[in-house]
Amino acid sequence: MPDTLLATAPPDAAVIEISKLSTRFGDHVVHADLDFDVRRGEIFAVIGGSGSGKSTLLREMILLHRPDAGSIRVLGVDLGDIDAAATLALRLRWGVMFQHGGLFGSLTILENIGLPLREHRTLDNAVVDALAAEKLALTGLQPEVGAQYPAELSGGMLKRASLARALILDPELLFLDEPTAGLDPESAGGVDQLVRKLRDRGGLTIVMITHDLDLLWQLADRVAVLADGKVQGIGSMAELAQMDQPAIRKFFDGPRGRAAQEQSKSPAAAHQAAAPRAAAPRAAAPQAASIRS
Ligand SMILES: Nc1ncnc2c1ncn2[C@@H]1O[C@H](COP(=O)(O)OP(=O)(O)OP(=O)(O)O)[C@@H](O)[C@H]1O
Ligand SMILES: [Mg+2]
Repeated sequence: MPDTLLATAPPDAAVIEISKLSTRFGDHVVHADLDFDVRRGEIFAVIGGSGSGKSTLLREMILLHRPDAGSIRVLGVDLGDIDAAATLALRLRWGVMFQHGGLFGSLTILENIGLPLREHRTLDNAVVDALAAEKLALTGLQPEVGAQYPAELSGGMLKRASLARALILDPELLFLDEPTAGLDPESAGGVDQLVRKLRDRGGLTIVMITHDLDLLWQLADRVAVLADGKVQGIGSMAELAQMDQPAIRKFFDGPRGRAAQEQSKSPAAAHQAAAPRAAAPRAAAPQAASIRS
């Protein structure tokens, strides 16, 4: 078979393959033999109670923490067997939006967004600024925000700026850690729409950690539920809603779970891009649609 054919992955090929992954801190077992794949082009969510190991899993997928056993392959590369050059090459192919933004307070928003380009590409400053301004606009921020500093921005604006920076190298894979946490309902709805827009542009695989049931119902293609060191279930929210395991049921039963499920069936939810969810459970009571107990 010619090389060009071998290099062309099928559309549903796995971009992340996790096999028998185990992690512990001292005697505390966080992951015990996790297995799952993330497929190309999907929005894949990881949910689970506090301390179930979601952030640790994300850190392992982006080479910030080494698991104790098992394997993780990202974009076809085995992370357990990777040298410095391959690590850098891989880091250029993914973007990460950290939960707390991770922007440098001493740099303007435009400088923050352009930073990965300055570090990894040899481009004129004017070109970097133009590319950064493009991502700023893509995330729905006004051009003048580029001259501001992180401390001057609202939580929702910071999330957008952080997302713009995660996108600056045009990644194939985007990791989002709690993209809507701590936002008011309107800002959270705006971030939902933005994630949807990115997905609809095509070519991007998104892995997100979230407690936000609205986001899960409306955007996630597949969801993995982490509890007791295991993946308790994996599937669409509708599929998970049919499963009986107690660790899964707790996300669907009770007023929060039911409200988000009902909301997901409403016409407004089906046309999310056009209709912000003024009546969403998230709007009715801040945090109401959170699965954090
Ligand atoms: N560097 C570390 N050293 C020791 N223990 C750690 C470390 N990082 C995480 N842990 C422990 O591993 C477990 C999983 O942590 P993790 O941050 O992955 O949970 P989480 O699912 O992201 O929780 P949350 O929803 O609260 O963010 C927790 O019990 C945590 O205390
Ligand atoms: Mg966490």
